Amino acid sequence: MGDLGRLLKESWSLVEEHQDKVAGYFYARIFLSYPDLRDLFPVHMDVQRSRLLNAIVTAVQSIDDADKFTAYLRGLGRDHRKFHVEPEHYEVVGGALIEAMRVHAGEQWCVEYDQAWADAYAKIASVMLQGAESDNSNPPYWYAEVVAHERRATDISVFTVQPMQPLDFRAGQYVSIECPRIQPRLWRPYSIANAPRRDNTLEFHVRAVGAGWVSSALVRRLEVGDMIRLAAPMGTMNLDRRSTRDTVFVAGGTGLAPIKSLLEELTRYNRTRWVHVFVGARNREDLYDLPELNRLAARYPWLSVVTACSDDPTYPGEQGDISDVVARYGPWSEHDFFVSGSGPMVKATLKTLTELQVPSIRVKYDSFSDL
Ligand SMILES: Cc1cc2nc3c(=O)[nH]c(=O)nc-3n(C[C@H](O)[C@H](O)[C@H](O)COP(=O)(O)OP(=O)(O)OC[C@H]3O[C@@H](n4cnc5c(N)ncnc54)[C@H](O)[C@@H]3O)c2cc1C
Ligand code: HEM
Repeated sequence: MGDLGRLLKESWSLVEEHQDKVAGYFYARIFLSYPDLRDLFPVHMDVQRSRLLNAIVTAVQSIDDADKFTAYLRGLGRDHRKFHVEPEHYEVVGGALIEAMRVHAGEQWCVEYDQAWADAYAKIASVMLQGAESDNSNPPYWYAEVVAHERRATDISVFTVQPMQPLDFRAGQYVSIECPRIQPRLWRPYSIANAPRRDNTLEFHVRAVGAGWVSSALVRRLEVGDMIRLAAPMGTMNLDRRSTRDTVFVAGGTGLAPIKSLLEELTRYNRTRWVHVFVGARNREDLYDLPELNRLAARYPWLSVVTACSDDPTYPGEQGDISDVVARYGPWSEHDFFVSGSGPMVKATLKTLTELQVPSIRVKYDSFSDL
């Protein structure tokens, strides 16, 4: 770990136990300096699970790998145009963060810590700002009308939207969605479930999670005719057209969305690569897109689909977690892999792939929650 990384970790450990207080101070400082910024944040702020503070601390702590995250940070900068963030806001937010830590750290805080946070934050903010500036020909967000909405399972819906202006994206990417009628100011990322289409429509697959604010609104309350907002596309889980390797897709639940997008792209040009899709769910009801997958497998001889249920003993397909099912097939050491689903599902699959000696450079993944 470099010196900067060490200083950042050391200083964060001084305040880690008092995160709630740091978060309270951080937001109070921002809103005092710029009262207008309050309108960007959710009406009910859950300071204990502060998204912005946690995101910045995680980004700053990864500064030693900043080059690896450049594409992500540029995308995040483009995404943040949805908040109409101006360069001076970055200074206000960075200043508030450092002051909040200094105030709560006690006597051990020193000027080197101040400098380390200022340097790391400035580096990240500058990449995000470059990303935002390079996106000036696009709107800060797109309005899109819901043109179809189908409940496919108790807690899963598939819906299609028609953006008012074309939204360019690559198969496998995701966008942040806000539903102003039901949950204003709450944005969450969702993967686009189709490859770019001539009519520009976008499909999404959403599962309502526990006490989730946005997912349950999208699954249970969204209606045809609703207008939602979409932010700039993000993500690098894309196909490498130059690769000649056979490909394996592993999806858990609605993790199928970006996999469907990549599959749809492959149907447009693939003739030579064998493609294996593994889809896991808790029970057969959650295999919400099976007819469509079967239709694709019947049409494209290079495609095979394996489905598994982890909690449905009478299901006639494979039984168990999808990460274990993948291991029963193979060998896979010469394949490209794409993995998508909940944090635990992705983590278990990555572990299996390491055990199967699949080089990590051949594995791309999107995790829907913390790994
Ligand atoms: C890159 C990316 C792409 C994504 N694509 C999709 C997609 O295509 N389809 C889709 O359904 N979801 C997708 N997600 C997840 C989505 O962004 C939300 O996190 C999810 O819908 C929950 O949002 P919420 O507002 O309902 O829950 P919140 O109000 O944010 O959280 C409520 C509670 O649920 C917990 N929680 C949050 N997410 C999950 C989860 N996935 N599993 C279990 N518990 C959780 C939280 O810890 C919290 O306790 C994606 C996430 C990422 C990062
Ligand atoms: C280094 C700088 C920054 C980084 C790394 C960063 C990163 C992030 C990330 C990743 C999220 C999403 C978290 C999630 O929903 O899971 C987020 C949310 C947000 N960011 Fe930023 N951000 C930065 C600067 C800013 C600035 C300058 C503003 C302007 C005020 C801003 C405003 C917001 C808002 C309003 C949210 C939503 C918060 C919520 O829903 O509670 N961010 N940020």
